[in-house]
Amino acid sequence: MRKIILLGYMGCGKSTIANKLSKNIGIPFVDLDIKIEEKVNLSINAIFEKHGEIYFRKLEHEVFIELLNSPERLIIGLGGGTPCYANNHELLKADNVVSIYLKASIETLFSRLSANKSKRPLIANKSDEEMKEFIATHLFERSFYYNQAQYKVSVDDKTIDQVVLDIVSILA
Ligand code: S3P
Repeated sequence: MRKIILLGYMGCGKSTIANKLSKNIGIPFVDLDIKIEEKVNLSINAIFEKHGEIYFRKLEHEVFIELLNSPERLIIGLGGGTPCYANNHELLKADNVVSIYLKASIETLFSRLSANKSKRPLIANKSDEEMKEFIATHLFERSFYYNQAQYKVSVDDKTIDQVVLDIVSILA
């Protein structure tokens, strides 16, 4: 069954938008990070701390494949790094997939992430100054992968409802 995949940098609003979209179109939403946490019974932070990022990326790939192969219609919210590892970006183009990149500017990401970084191991220990620099470089490096999505929706200066409507019109 068809999968709707939302992707984009940490803080672009994937989970919030996916939740609202799910209610709007009546298709269940699964958050890849939460599925990973449930699978190994550890938080994302604990997985990074105990096993390291490479282990996390392998797990992330496995769980992503499991979700893609599940028989239900689903909205899948990826982690910010998912498209950038293990050739996951190739999976964004499959026939039974609609992939949508939620594109946010560095400023939008910085203002959302600076208030909300403790659960994100890649930025948890960075100062505001370091974080701005990190987001700029990292977003640039990741853009190639994000741009493999079939559709792009800009989220800057839009309400959640506006973004959801943009997605609904893509799906129509
Ligand atoms: C990551 C983003 C996180 C989570 C992990 C790594 C990344 O997901 O998968 O901390 O590499 O950008 P969110 O984008 O949902 O925060």
